[in-house]
Amino acid sequence: MSYDIEKIGRGPLEAVSIIPPGPITLVAVGDKERDVLAVGMFNVFSFRPPIVGIAVTASRYSYKLLDESPDFSINIPGRDMIEKVNCCGSKSGKSVDKFKDCGLTAVPGKRIKSPSVGECLMNIECKKMDYFEKGDHIWFFGQVVHSEVAADYDHSKVLLYRDGEFWGVSESLKPE
Ligand SMILES: Cc1cc2nc3c(=O)[nH]c(=O)nc-3n(C[C@H](O)[C@H](O)[C@H](O)COP(=O)(O)O)c2cc1C
Repeated sequence: MSYDIEKIGRGPLEAVSIIPPGPITLVAVGDKERDVLAVGMFNVFSFRPPIVGIAVTASRYSYKLLDESPDFSINIPGRDMIEKVNCCGSKSGKSVDKFKDCGLTAVPGKRIKSPSVGECLMNIECKKMDYFEKGDHIWFFGQVVHSEVAADYDHSKVLLYRDGEFWGVSESLKPE
């Protein structure tokens, strides 16, 4: 045995909840009727072409817009945006304009109809591809058609999230 780690059993739900944190995103969708929500279930699915995915529960108001819209934007907030992320992740666009209510700027998309979030470090414009339902979430895939990144961007500036807690990136590690 070449390892020395004591392990304890965990239930399946607990196990997926303690998988290390990943980027939190703000997803903006819609044209005349628009919404922005917090999405932690985000992934990159392909590099050539660049394809990303977000997972949303069908009960969300934004689900209807994602279903109807030809596109959406994925926006990466900075570490100073926890309150705005929680605002987008707790109110419903059914009753409020979350851009106004959460203090965010809807910037017109360059290659898509959906807006981007001006305050975020990174704006990724996506044309909607297909979607599939798995368990309690529906994954929407998007091909990246345009993106803009803060000129002074580096990973230490972003927010990570898992299971109710936010984290930061502290250091880059090199192989020994
Ligand atoms: C940090 C955070 C992460 C979230 N991640 C997701 C997610 O991945 N998928 C999802 O459907 N909802 C997620 N939510 C919940 C939605 O953002 C929330 O229900 C929001 O109010 C939905 O807005 P809407 O009704 O305008 O669509 C998250 C909330 C927070 C605070």
